[in-house]
Amino acid sequence: MADADIGLIGLGTMGAMLALNMAEKGHRVAVYNRTGSVTKDFVGGAGDLASNLIACDTLAELAAAIRTPRAVVLMVPAGNAVDAVSADLAEYLEDGDMIVDAGNANFRDTNRRFEEADRIKVMGIGVSGGAEGARHGPAIMAGGAPEAWERMKPILTAIAAKYDGQPCADYMGPAGAGHFVKAVHNGIEYADMQIIAEAYGLMRDGLGMDAKAIGAVFDKWNQGPLASYLIEISAKVAVADDPETGKAMLDIIADRAGQKGTGRWTVIEAQHLAAPVTVIEAAVAARNTSAQSDLRTTGEAIFGGRAEPLDATLDQIEQALIAGKIICYSQGFEMLRRASAEFDWSLPLPGIAEVWRAGCIIRSEMLNDMSRALGEDSDRLLMHAPFFADILKANTQSLRHVTAHGIAAGHAVPALAAALGYFDAMRKARSTANMIQAQRDFFGEHGFERTDRDGTGFHGPWVPPRPGNS
Ligand SMILES: NC(=O)c1ccc[n+]([C@@H]2O[C@H](COP(=O)([O-])OP(=O)(O)OC[C@H]3O[C@@H](n4cnc5c(N)ncnc54)[C@H](OP(=O)(O)O)[C@@H]3O)[C@@H](O)[C@H]2O)c1
Repeated sequence: MADADIGLIGLGTMGAMLALNMAEKGHRVAVYNRTGSVTKDFVGGAGDLASNLIACDTLAELAAAIRTPRAVVLMVPAGNAVDAVSADLAEYLEDGDMIVDAGNANFRDTNRRFEEADRIKVMGIGVSGGAEGARHGPAIMAGGAPEAWERMKPILTAIAAKYDGQPCADYMGPAGAGHFVKAVHNGIEYADMQIIAEAYGLMRDGLGMDAKAIGAVFDKWNQGPLASYLIEISAKVAVADDPETGKAMLDIIADRAGQKGTGRWTVIEAQHLAAPVTVIEAAVAARNTSAQSDLRTTGEAIFGGRAEPLDATLDQIEQALIAGKIICYSQGFEMLRRASAEFDWSLPLPGIAEVWRAGCIIRSEMLNDMSRALGEDSDRLLMHAPFFADILKANTQSLRHVTAHGIAAGHAVPALAAALGYFDAMRKARSTANMIQAQRDFFGEHGFERTDRDGTGFHGPWVPPRPGNS
C-alpha cells in the first residue's frame, strides 16, 4: 500500500539519521539502500521508530510504497552516484514526482540537473550538522522551484534544528542556490576550524601548554563572545584521553587534515565571483599543507622546525580569534551577496544567518547578532555594521599583536594573517594598485583611470602616442 509520506535512498551515516529524524516527527518513510542488508539491519535496529519505516528491497518497491506525487530524498555521495541513482529511480517515478538531493552536491551539478529536469522535478538541499544534526535537527538550506520548497517545507521544518522555536530550514533560491549556500557554509567552517587550530598551535608551541590546559581555555572561551559549537567541541577533544595509551587523544591523532571538496569549491567559486574570501583560502591551503607531511618533515630537517615562545596572553589570543572570526564571516556573506547578484538569486542573507544559528557545525551566538546586522542592511559589509565595527575596533589590536608576534617567533598562522591582511587592505582608501595599473599599462598598454580627471584608457609617458591612445 502506498502510504509513505516520503522516500529516502542511501542509509549511510547521514541518510540513516535523517530517516530516523523524519520517522520520529511522525512521517512514514520508505527507505532503500544499495546494499540490501543495510536496509534490513537499519529498520531492524530502529526500535519504536520502525513502525514509521518501510524497508524496500528494490527501487520499484520504494516507488510503490510512496504516496503520489512522490518525493524521494537522496543521501548518497555527491557526483556520479546522484546522477546514476536518479536515472535508475526515474524509471519508477511519474510526472510531477520529485528527487531531492540532500548530499553535498556541487551547485553547478544541481543547476545542470535542475535545467535537465523534465517530467521529474529536482530539488537540491544543503544539510549541515553531521550525524548528530541529521538525527536530532540539522540546518537545512533548500534550493529549487518555490513550489518544490512549499511541498517539502512541512517535513523539512519539522526535522530541522530550532533556534528559539524557529526552524533552521529555509528557502535560499532557485536551482543550486541551496547547495551553493551550503558550500559557503562549509568554507566558513574550514576557516573557523583553522583559526581555532592556529590558536591551539600558539598555546601548544608558543605558550608550552598541554592539551588539558588548552581544553580548559577553550571551555572558558565558550562562555564568552566565541561561544559556538566548534569551540565547545575543541574543548572536549582537547581534554579527552586515548583509551588505549592513556595519553592525550589530541597528541595521538595524526596532523594531516582531510577534506571532501566543499571548501575547495567555495574558493574556486569565490575566484569566479571576484570575492576575496582570504581566510577560507588560507584554511583550504592549510589543509593541503597539513597533508604534505613528508615535505614538512624534510623542511624541518633543512630549515629547523623550532619556534620561539609567544609573547602574547591568552586574552589576546581570544581577542585575535574574535576579530578573525568576524572578518572571515564578513567575507563569506560578501561572497553570498556577490553570488546573489551574479546568479539573480535574491539570497536571503539575514535568513541564512538565522538558519546557521542552530543545527549546523558553525552554529554560534554570534550568528544571531549577524542576522540582526544583516537584517538592518544586507547590502553593507558585515564588518561595517556598527555592532561588528565596534567589536573589531576593540579586538583587531590583539589580532595584530598575536599574528605579528606569532610570525616573528616562527609560528604558522596563515588564516589569522589572512584575516589581518584583508582587514588592513580594506581600511585604506588608497591602495597600492596604482602601481599595478602602471605596470599593466607599461607592458600591455592596458590603460588606466586618473585620480584628477574622469574617463578611462589613459596611458603613461612610457606608451608611445598612437591614434586612439589618450
Ligand atoms: N557525513 C557528514 O557529516 C555529512 C554532512 C553533511 C552532508 N553530507 C553529505 O551527505 C552525503 C552522504 O554522506 P554520508 O556521510 O552519509 O555517506 P556514507 O556514510 O558514505 O553513505 C553513503 C551512502 O550512499 C550509498 N551509495 C554510495 N554510492 C552509491 C551508488 N553509486 N549508488 C547507490 N548508493 C550509493 C551507500 O550505500 P552502500 O551501503 O551500498 O554503500 C550509503 O548508503 C554526501 O554527499 C555527503 O557529502 C555528509
